[in-house]
Amino acid sequence: MSLESRLELEILELLRKANRTLSFSEICSSLGVSESSVASASSSLFQKGLIELSSKVTRHVQLTPEGEYHSKHGLPERRLVKIVLEKGGKIPLDEAREKYPDKPFFTIALGWLRKKNWGLIQSLNGVPHIVVEKEPPEGLDESILSKVSSQGFLEQNALDTEGVRLLINRGLVKIMERAERLVSLTEAGRTVELKIAVTQLTPELIRSGEWRRVELKPYDVKADVEPLYPGRLHPLTEFIKEVREIFTEMGFTEIKGPIIESCFWNFDALFTPQDHPAREMQDTFYLSNPSSIELNDRELVERVKKTHEDGWETGSTGWGGKWSEDAAKKLVLRTHTTCVSVRYLAEHKDPPVKVFSVDRVFRNERISFKSLAEFHQIEGIIMDEGVTLRDLKGVLTQFYKKLGLEKVQFWPSYFPYTEPSMNSVVYVPQAGRWLELCGMGIFRPEVTKPLGIEHPVLAWGGGLERLLMLRLGITDIRILYQNDLGWLRRVKTCL
Ligand code: PHE
Repeated sequence: MSLESRLELEILELLRKANRTLSFSEICSSLGVSESSVASASSSLFQKGLIELSSKVTRHVQLTPEGEYHSKHGLPERRLVKIVLEKGGKIPLDEAREKYPDKPFFTIALGWLRKKNWGLIQSLNGVPHIVVEKEPPEGLDESILSKVSSQGFLEQNALDTEGVRLLINRGLVKIMERAERLVSLTEAGRTVELKIAVTQLTPELIRSGEWRRVELKPYDVKADVEPLYPGRLHPLTEFIKEVREIFTEMGFTEIKGPIIESCFWNFDALFTPQDHPAREMQDTFYLSNPSSIELNDRELVERVKKTHEDGWETGSTGWGGKWSEDAAKKLVLRTHTTCVSVRYLAEHKDPPVKVFSVDRVFRNERISFKSLAEFHQIEGIIMDEGVTLRDLKGVLTQFYKKLGLEKVQFWPSYFPYTEPSMNSVVYVPQAGRWLELCGMGIFRPEVTKPLGIEHPVLAWGGGLERLLMLRLGITDIRILYQNDLGWLRRVKTCL
């Protein structure tokens, strides 16, 4: 049998030694602990079936304030007797009143003097005198009063005596009732082997050999504890780290690109026509100062221009019309991270390429529960000999699986820079619907040829916040950027 605490053990040992029922107050004074600790240890012992609890009403005498006063100074009649005896046993009544130190009690003193037959009033030469023959012995009431005041209590059997009744009638003491709690051993309590339960094996326990006598308590991981709010990463930062780790595990390398980007890289190199709605001011943030940048790779600019106008050598007919270099020179806050991928391809034409980026993008959107003007995208490309759409689906499925999303589908879609194009959608059981997560496809020759890329490039990109919302079960995207401390503290790290 193991015990929660040393106190429980001590109580049991005390009861065994005493071999009788003990009251809480007896236990408290023997062990030098508070009544509340005895109470909680006892209730734990009771639950283990080691002790029996009962209670008994006991009576106690207590001094009233007046009783307290007289126990200090003596009963009024005793003080009066003293004055009379000092004067040789006779004193005129008026003189006694004069001499009596506690005026309010003089009449009381005189009354009790006569009642107790300690003296009498006699007229001597026509003057009333108090006459006392000798010092009367200590009365029962007096001895009880001094006992109560010196030892603080009276034995139960002394409570119903004449002296106590007298003091009660005079209002010097009163009887108080108190429920005493009593503890006695059960059969189990008498016989079990006693062991203390400890939750931690300390060096002291090992050194002293005490570990042999304790029982190691299983750690209750479900017990309630005080909430703790240590410093931590923002859930968004945490999630970005996790995404990075997953891609790295899958053999990808992280790449970075500029946040301020030319339209050339953000749109034109991606074969997005110059009159595409995404390029309009209401969708894209254009820089006003500086508003444009020179395009230095003249050959590449030429090839892209031709591709847009008539398809160049890509086998495409292009978009037709005139391609404007001025429009391509304009600076924007990048609207997606796909420009990071194409920039990288322009510099790395040899297979294999397996890179990803997780970074910020900007769109001129009205901020609401479902959209932000600044958010993150997860982007990646794989360029290698003979890679196919199946590889792309496989990689993405694996990525989502690592994030805990099992149910993924791919639906046909359209992007100006990929053919074929798809969207990945995941099933969100809480919402009971499919959610679009990410766009993808194989870069068109209109994108790869001008860059000098000979092999297929699998590409994908999509919002990061949406994924995180799914994971955290939040419905308002803005909470991720509000720095609401209450939410940040409570949001779970492990889901
Ligand atoms: N850039 C697209 C977007 O922002 C996603 C995408 C990336 C689509 C790569 C196809 C290929 O939604």
